[in-house]
Parts: sequence; structure tokens; C-alpha cells
Amino acid sequence: MKILAIETSCDDTCIALADGSAKDFKLLSNLISSQVKIHKKWGGVYPTLAKREHQKNLIMLLEQSLTETNMLKLKVKSEKLKITDKNSKIKEILGREKILLEKTTKFLAKYQKPRIDYIAVTIGPGLDPCLWTGVNFAKTLAYWWNIPIIPVNHIEGHILANFLPKIGENTKCKTKNAKQSAKNIIKFPAIALIVSGGHTQIILIKKIGQYKILGETRDDAAGEAFDKIARILGLGYPGGPIIAQQAEKLSTRPRRANNQLSIKLPRPMFRTKDYDFSFSGLKTAVLYDYLKRSPKIRKSKKYIQAMAKEAQQSVIDVLIKKTIKAVKDYRVETIMLGGGVAANKELRIQFERKVQEYNPKAKFIVSINKFCTDNAAMIAMAAYLQTPGKRAMKWEKIKAEPNLRISDN
Ligand code: KG4
Ligand code: ZN
Repeated sequence: MKILAIETSCDDTCIALADGSAKDFKLLSNLISSQVKIHKKWGGVYPTLAKREHQKNLIMLLEQSLTETNMLKLKVKSEKLKITDKNSKIKEILGREKILLEKTTKFLAKYQKPRIDYIAVTIGPGLDPCLWTGVNFAKTLAYWWNIPIIPVNHIEGHILANFLPKIGENTKCKTKNAKQSAKNIIKFPAIALIVSGGHTQIILIKKIGQYKILGETRDDAAGEAFDKIARILGLGYPGGPIIAQQAEKLSTRPRRANNQLSIKLPRPMFRTKDYDFSFSGLKTAVLYDYLKRSPKIRKSKKYIQAMAKEAQQSVIDVLIKKTIKAVKDYRVETIMLGGGVAANKELRIQFERKVQEYNPKAKFIVSINKFCTDNAAMIAMAAYLQTPGKRAMKWEKIKAEPNLRISDN
């Protein structure tokens, strides 16, 4: 069963191809076109620009992905002429995607239908214009090739990324017994902490496909906080990885350097009895500290590094505290981490340590970095683990849902 997966919920254009059998999940291709350079000057994602880039990138990535997997076959000449019959429907579906329309029409006229059984696409949550580009693209291919679509929730993708192969940078990799490990080895209920640029949620996983949001951020997401703090400090975008780098530099320096600056930021909502978060105050606290320093200190490496380390630790402290609280309250033995911020090394190390301290038998699961940040492999995995036949729909029924929630209550 071959799945083509499409993910365009934010600023990364992602295409993946996977082959799922009853037992194993093989990732055949996993491509990402990052827009970081484009959004850097805005210090965040600019949705209409991101949409434009998705339109430019999708066909290029699809072609590359099909080439890598030997699935891109030219049409014979006589077939080429048939394109005009169905053209008007494609124009209708891609009516708001002018750049993509032109590229897609050329592609469909030139190449044969590849041997794909399902198209999995992220329908939400995410940025409305960006989601629609991916959804409209999926609909066009599904219509033209007459194959069903599996709509996927982006957050569910981040959770189920934990079942993707864990063997480094090799794209063509395989998860043996993927369904088995997902359904039997993991003890349900499990808890997932999903931390990204748009979301910070603690989710109770009753079983795959059944979720309940226990708590979430009331304002900024953890990744968003890192992005905003990095902007205050003049570090660039995206903030998470740069803050992590700066913080790491400090830890190799003598302790004295840190103490000299003595930065202490709040741990927002650390003691509240719920599972919610709030990170916007943290950003404000960073700004206040920054403004009270002399221009010389502000620009100094030591200050930037000390601030990065303290801000990172503040986020880590609350994320771990609230998740472990949920783990205790729900007597859970499997804890999963996902989303872009899960790529943070310190968070991973400290989280694992705390989970082990709480219960040495508990399992702490986090995927390799490239599957933590946005990718389409996780969308393919989510479609695969859901028994595709049950979730698949006709293309006409699919629409983007920017505010989609994962909770079933
Ligand atoms: O999941 P993701 O790729 O996109 C969204 O769905 O939002 O997450 C992107 C976020 C950004 O805010 C970025 O700053 C953060 O993840 N991020 C990190 C790291 N790598 C990416 N945050 C902390 N440490 C990292 N190493
Ligand atoms: Zn994401």
C-alpha cells in the first residue's frame, strides 16, 4: 500500500512517499523545502508568502520524490492529448492557486499516474492559506488519478512521528512491526507533550485515534516564545535552535561568567493545578531584563548566552513539571514528545531523566530530530496507523480546517 503524503500547514513544504504492509512501514522518500531564508527578515512566518512558496515547491518536490522511487514515468504521446477533457475541473479546484495550477497541469499532462493507493494530507490545524494549498493540491491529484484522500491532523502527525524509524539521516528506512509496536508495545493510556511553533499541548492518548487535550498554552506556544525571545536578542529566526546553540556555548564556560549576570526569569504557571501553560509573560520578562541592561552588556556574548540558557531552562522546567503531573495523575507509563521544540537536546535529556526518576519502568519516547520538526513522513505514518481504508474519503469531501482540534470530546 503506497501513500503519498503532503504537509503545508506552516512554512515548510513537505512531501513523503511510504509503503506500508500489514507489518512494516517503509519510508521511501521524505523531502522538505524550508522557507526559513524567506521568513527570516520578518522574524516569523508571513502566511501569504508561505502560500506562494508552497505553490512554487509542491510539483518540484513531487517530481523529485517520484524520481527517487522510480515511480515517475512519462506518458506515451497519444495520452497527452486527453488532458483537455478534465482541465476545467482542475481549474476549479486550483482556482486560488494560480502558480500551482500552471505547474500541476503541465505535470499531469506529462506523466503517467504513479502506483499510489492513497494521498494523505494535513488538513489542520495550521495557517489557513498554507493548509489550503496542500489540500487543493491533494484534491487535484486525487481527482485526476482517481484515488482516495486520507485527511490528517497535524498534531496527530507529531504524536505518531514517534513510530517513524530511528536510524539517523537515512531516508530510505523502515519501521519493523510498526503497527504492532504502536498498538501493543505502547501501554495505553499514554501521554504526549506536543511542543511546536504553533502549539503546546498535553494530550492523553487513550489509543491511536482517540485523544483528549488535558492542557495547553493560554497564549504563546513554546516554540513561538523561543522565536520571540530570539528576536528581542537579535538572534534571527527560527529562535529555538539558535537559543539552544547559545545556551550550550555557556555551559562550556566557567560558572563564574553565568553568576556574574545572575539572570532569573519566571517559570509561568509552574504551580497551578491544571495542565495549562503561558509563555507570553516570559517573553516580556526577557524584554524588561534586556532593556534595563546597558547597551554594552546587551550586545555581549555572555549576556546573550546567559539569557538564552535561562529562557530555555524556564521553558523546560514548566514543560516537564506539567507533563509529569499529568503522567502521575493519569498513572501513565508511556510518555511521548513531539513537535519542533522536541528537537531541543536539553529538553530531551532533562525530560528523560525526570521520567526515569518518577518511574524507572516508564517509557520515554522521542523521535530523531528531523521527524520532530514539520515533515510529511509523520503524515504518512498517521495515515498508515489509522487503517487507511477506514479514514479514506473522496476528494470532494476534503477541506482545510485551520482550527482543527485533536480532542474527541
Ligand atoms: O513543529 P514545527 O516544525 O512547526 C510547527 O508546527 O510550528 O516547530 C517549529 C518550532 C519553531 O518555533 C522553532 O523555533 C522550534 O520549533 N524549534 C526548536 C528547536 N528546533 C526547532 N526549539 C527549541 N530547540 C530546538 N532545537
Ligand atoms: Zn508542526
